[in-house]
This record gives sequence, structure tokens and C-alpha cells, in this order.
Amino acid sequence: MKFRRNIIITGGAGFIGSHVVRLFVNKYPEYRIINVDKLTYAGNLANLKDVELAENYSFEKADICDYAQMSQLMSDYSVDGIIHLAAESHVDRSIKDPFAFAYTNIIGTLTLLQAAKLYWESTEEKYEGKLFYHISTDEVFGALEMDGTMFTEETKYNPHSPYSASKASSDHFVRAFHDTYGMPTILTNCSNNYGPYQFPEKLIPLFIHNICQRKPLPVYGKGENVRDWLYVVDHARAIDVIFHKGKVADSYNIGGFNEWKNIDLIKVMIKTVDKLLGNPDGYSLDLITYVTDRAGHDLRYAIDSSKLKNELGWEPSLQFEEGIEKTVRWYLENQDWLDNITSGEYEKYYEEMYKNR
Ligand SMILES: NC(=O)c1ccc[n+]([C@@H]2O[C@H](COP(=O)([O-])OP(=O)(O)OC[C@H]3O[C@@H](n4cnc5c(N)ncnc54)[C@H](O)[C@@H]3O)[C@@H](O)[C@H]2O)c1
Repeated sequence: MKFRRNIIITGGAGFIGSHVVRLFVNKYPEYRIINVDKLTYAGNLANLKDVELAENYSFEKADICDYAQMSQLMSDYSVDGIIHLAAESHVDRSIKDPFAFAYTNIIGTLTLLQAAKLYWESTEEKYEGKLFYHISTDEVFGALEMDGTMFTEETKYNPHSPYSASKASSDHFVRAFHDTYGMPTILTNCSNNYGPYQFPEKLIPLFIHNICQRKPLPVYGKGENVRDWLYVVDHARAIDVIFHKGKVADSYNIGGFNEWKNIDLIKVMIKTVDKLLGNPDGYSLDLITYVTDRAGHDLRYAIDSSKLKNELGWEPSLQFEEGIEKTVRWYLENQDWLDNITSGEYEKYYEEMYKNR
């Protein structure tokens, strides 16, 4: 079957990537979607059970750092679009093992850029009709004070953790490939995501899991840090709009205009989980356990996504309380998914990570 477009989505077995793959496979049967994922601890094909048999979906287990493999995939599938999400993504892990982050996030992105460059330059149409879309984070901008200011697309990069430093570096390479070789690129910086299929080392699924198991809820410092939260399906919708209508060489901020202090967010989660489990109001508040703050912990992130709204008409579709309730319900109804993931290797890692806190 001939497809109108052939698009590689890297990291499609991860949290956000799986939502992007699902949206593209279902919405665009005329596109072939090739999920390229190494299946690290964070990649899980169970996230894509509902689309794995679709005719326009293929999975390739491959490492984005492997240049020969990436080049082969580009030509085997006549790829004309790349949506690049594969990354090491957990800040705590980056503090323990910065090299893994530099390798995957920087060298991996550079490898993919170079493989796309050589393949696209070898085609008759060269860069016409091609796009390299790189997914990045708001953490590259550093930290804000509690003064109502927000990150815009013009904010200077100022990363503080090995994770954000590696993402910032990959962003620079993407811009450099546009500026130096004329590759059509787009870059987006998004705030914290939450929703179904998130690996339970991240705050929201970890805490839902722990509340259900009556395990402690480790809160960094005094829980004063502020994050802007976006429902993951809204991020996938934004990626769809930007992939199709975004301006080449531009960048867009994606956020929910939805800032929460960690401690307040945790209280909303406790309230929601207790309500859905039939526990009395406030039942799980005693699980809150304050732990030593994370090194280099940024105080506040807040994204101004008005450019995306004004130019391309995207807005988040869900209010936060609604999104949290949907998310908690999903985790409660998908205990098998959670149990599979929290057994074995991950459980050992989790104990190691939090044992001295
Ligand atoms: N989670 C968030 O809140 C958030 C916010 C903004 C931006 N981002 C960015 O979005 C992207 C996806 O984040 P996520 O939370 O879904 O991450 P994730 O950790 O859930 O998934 C990452 C995926 O990449 C795959 N992967 C890792 N190394 C690879 C390699 N060398 N080759 C091929 N595949 C590899 C993993 O197997 C996994 O499936 C990342 O680039 C991240 O920086 C995430």
C-alpha cells in the first residue's frame, strides 16, 4: 500500500510518544507511522496495544544513537517526517548518571539529524515536503521567581540539571541544522505532562500508586516548587497542529496556563484518589513525607503558550481537576499495567533511589 507520508516517531513506546503515535495512527490512515524505540526501562509496547495491528503502523526496535540503523530506516521507509521524542527524561536519573543523558539526548539527536540530512539531500525533492520536529522541554529555560513572569519563545536558555542541559544542547543542534544546512526543523518546549501510561517514577503516577498501596509520598523540600501541568493528550494535539501548520525554523511553547505548587497538587491528588477509593476525605494526608530537596531544584516553571494559541489556534481542552480525575480513574482501572511495570527491575531501582530519604 502506498502512503501519502512516511513519518518516524522516535520514543513512541514511551509516555508522550505513545499518545502521539495513537493520535497519528487513528487520525491519519493515509500516513504510515513508524515507531522507532529502543525499549529502555521507560519504553513499553503495552502502551500501544490498541493500535499495534493497524495497517499504517510499524514498530522498529532501534537505538537513535546507531547511525547505520537510522540511515537504513530513513531509506527503507522513504521517510519524509520525523517527530523526535526519544530521550532519557527523568531528572533524578540524570543527576545519578549524566553520561547516559548526554549520550541519548545529544548524540542520539545529532545522529538522527545527520541520518535525515544525508537521506533527504539524496532524494530528488531534497528538503521539500520534509520536516524534522524536535520535542523539548521548558526546563531548558532554567527557573523563574514567584513573580508571575513566564517563559516565552524568546527566553534565554539557562539549564540547571544534567537533563535540561542535555535537552538544551539537542535543541541547539536542531537549530544549527536549520541554520547551517537549511534543514526544515521545528522545535517545541513543553511544560510537565500528566495522564495515562506515564512511567511511575514521575510524580503523578508514583503518588497515585503509593496512595493506593499506603506507601509514603516523598515530597522534595517543603513542596513549594511550582510546575505548570498539561494533560498529555493535549500535548499530542498540539504536536499534531504544529507538525501540520507550524512555521519552519520556528519554536513554540506548549503549556496549560496551569501552575501548581507541588504540595497543593499532592493534596488534590490525595483528595481525588481517596474519593474514588471510597476513603473518608483527608484519609491519606498522613502519607505526605518531606524529604531532602533535589540538588539544583528549579523553583518555578511557567509557560506562556499564547503564540501557539494566537498563531495556530491551539488551546488545552481540559481543566486540571477534570484531567486529574480522568488520570486517577485510568490508573485505578489499569492496575495490571501498573503492576507489570512496578515489578522486578523497576521496584529495585525505586527502593535504591529513595532508600535514604
Ligand atoms: N514528560 C514530560 O512531562 C515532558 C515535558 C516536556 C518535554 N518532554 C520531552 O518529551 C519527550 C518524551 O518524554 P516522555 O516523558 O514520554 O519520556 P519517556 O521516558 O516516557 O519515554 C522515552 C522513550 O524513549 C525511548 N528511548 C530512550 N532512549 C532511546 C534510544 N537511545 N533510542 C530509541 N529510543 C529510546 C524509551 O524506550 C521510551 O520509550 C522527551 O524528549 C522529553 O524530554 C517530556
